[in-house]
Amino acid sequence: MLKKWIKIPSEYNQKIKDLKTRELLSIKISDQDICVVIVDNELFAFSNYCPHGGALLSLGTCNLKGVISCPKHGYKFDCKTGKDLDNNGYHLKRQKIEKRAEDYWLFI
Ligand code: FES
Repeated sequence: MLKKWIKIPSEYNQKIKDLKTRELLSIKISDQDICVVIVDNELFAFSNYCPHGGALLSLGTCNLKGVISCPKHGYKFDCKTGKDLDNNGYHLKRQKIEKRAEDYWLFI
C-alpha cells in the first residue's frame, strides 16, 4: 500500500499538544495504533505494537534518554532510531510525524 501524509484527527491533535515529555500516547489513525512521545523537545511516532510480542508500548515507559521499555517482557527500544537496545533483532516500526501550522501530520 502506498504511504501518504495523513492529518491527525482533531481529538488526537489536541492530545499531542497537551502531551508531556516522555508521556506515551496511543492514537488510532487509518486502522493503525500509533504511539507518540516527546523526547528532547522532539516528537516521535512508531507502531504501538511491540515488535517482539505485540504488547502495547504506550503502556510501557520512556526514560530520560528516550528508551522505551515494553510492559510485557521489558525489551528496550530507542525511540529516536527504533533500535532494539537488547540486540534481540526487533526494531520499532517508526513513523514520520510533523507539525504544520496548528496540525500534526503522520506519514503512514
Ligand atoms: S512483547 Fe514486548 S518485549 Fe515481549
